Amino acid sequence: MDPQELLSLCRRRGFLWPAYDIYGGLAGFYDYGPLGSLLKNNIESHWRKLYVFEEGLHELVCPIIAPEPVFKASGHLDAFADMYAECRQCGESHRADHLADGLHENPAALSEEELGRILEENAVKCPACKGDLSPPRRFNLMFKTSVGAGSAKAGYMRPETAQGMFVNFPQIYRHGREKLPVGAVQIGRAFRNEISPRQGVLRLREFSQMEAEVFFHPERKTWPRFDKVKHEVLPLVPNDGSPAALSLAEAVSSKVIANEALAYFIWLTHRFAIDVGLDPERIRFRQHEKDEMAHYAAECWDLEAETAYGWVELVGIADRGCYDVQAHLKHSGADLTAFERFDEPREVVSEEVKPKYDAMGGQFKGKTKALAERLSALAPDVVRGKSEIVVEVDDERFAVPSTCFEVVTRTEKAAGEKFVPHVIEPSYGVDRILYSVLEHAYRKKDDYLTLTLRGIMAPIKAGVFPLMPKDSMDRIALEVYDVLVAEGISAHYDESGSIGRRYARMDEVGTPCCITVDHQTVEDGTVTIRDRDSKEQARIGVDEVVRWVRSVVKGDSPGPDGGFETAEKRGN
Ligand code: GLY
Repeated sequence: MDPQELLSLCRRRGFLWPAYDIYGGLAGFYDYGPLGSLLKNNIESHWRKLYVFEEGLHELVCPIIAPEPVFKASGHLDAFADMYAECRQCGESHRADHLADGLHENPAALSEEELGRILEENAVKCPACKGDLSPPRRFNLMFKTSVGAGSAKAGYMRPETAQGMFVNFPQIYRHGREKLPVGAVQIGRAFRNEISPRQGVLRLREFSQMEAEVFFHPERKTWPRFDKVKHEVLPLVPNDGSPAALSLAEAVSSKVIANEALAYFIWLTHRFAIDVGLDPERIRFRQHEKDEMAHYAAECWDLEAETAYGWVELVGIADRGCYDVQAHLKHSGADLTAFERFDEPREVVSEEVKPKYDAMGGQFKGKTKALAERLSALAPDVVRGKSEIVVEVDDERFAVPSTCFEVVTRTEKAAGEKFVPHVIEPSYGVDRILYSVLEHAYRKKDDYLTLTLRGIMAPIKAGVFPLMPKDSMDRIALEVYDVLVAEGISAHYDESGSIGRRYARMDEVGTPCCITVDHQTVEDGTVTIRDRDSKEQARIGVDEVVRWVRSVVKGDSPGPDGGFETAEKRGN
């Protein structure tokens, strides 16, 4: 299919369109219209149902802007960058690794120099105007801003919702009664200053994520429900060419998938994909190559969907190890560890920072006690090898030299041990999922357009029409409409144009059923209900409408009690 046809439908029918259009637009920014917003809400609500209500993860809403130390610790300040080459003729910037597609197995893993050499050797020119290109330069993808007036602090728009959850590990752990695994989720906007965003909503500069950060004991990465799904066989594409037709249990035992938790969240993602209406024949889970993973990941599987743009990553399911929590622990000095009680008290060796009061007293006078308390609370890794540590007391910063503290080792009987939790992260790109759902639902037959959206995804669940807006038909149709919306079912009332045209308008936006009030309704209180995909109709009582619509929206087989009399059921 031509994606422009779908994007044109999206614009015409109020799903989505490029933002700030009247000013010529701004690449990488899109608006969601009335139907797009409803579809997006349906995707997010279903995700919340699975992750929060069924799996019991805890939802957070964290700020979009974070101070610089957060992204210094996370590695985004140093490592979250792409390379670009600028055209010396037209001035356009291009992703330098994309320019080298086909010239190297994985151009994104190359250094600036290596990539520059490949582009030069192959005489790669500007794709837009064939002009000469600058050598590749690294470009950090975070949007920078400043917080406050005057000598404002640097802030960054979050490039992933994840960091808000890592820094809140102690709160999440406490909320989960200090047991692992425990997890947080967040649905919200994230920002990446992409070098050349293209392909509609597939690469946006402002986008929506649904992310879960699930914290585990490093040696027990499993999930309570794994047993229930372990025999399922999913479309896996491992990076070592091993057979893909493995059950999840086989994939874990043969180390194709590193652990049960990762396998479980791959399964959950597959379930989500099917629930939202992605075509099971056009999705797969591809394991990342070792040199393809983000700076924090130890292992990663992507849910990919086949679209007109090729195979597109919709979800990344990564084992982030202890990378993030360890990094925040080290940079903030806060205690981000979990605690596990032993069956029996054991002798354990631990380290701690011990202030040297004698050395401190002469230098820090009345502040010695407060400074010593702060030093004692630091993790040994924070001070190890440092010639001095800057500590803040009463809004004053003190550089404490290493002669004033030491890391000491203690051996003691302990009831348990502290450790830094590991994280499994399923990270979903909402906009890409939404686009792929639309593309997989798009049908065109003799210029007749239908979106075969699953009932739970459809922005409008039922169209309600009077055959003609007169003779009480409009009044009864409005009553039917009122009952549906009072029941929380999104409905659309339409009395204009031929009935065929009204059906077509609803089919085009994926409305699973339409209810028509006609002359017979006025006489006997029955209406017709029409199924979008089979186009079959049933005659039902007005008082049955809510039950039918609910059933159509919920299930794959339309209507309760056997449903519509479809062509298939009649045997033709
Ligand atoms: N948190 C993973 C990502 O945003 O890609």
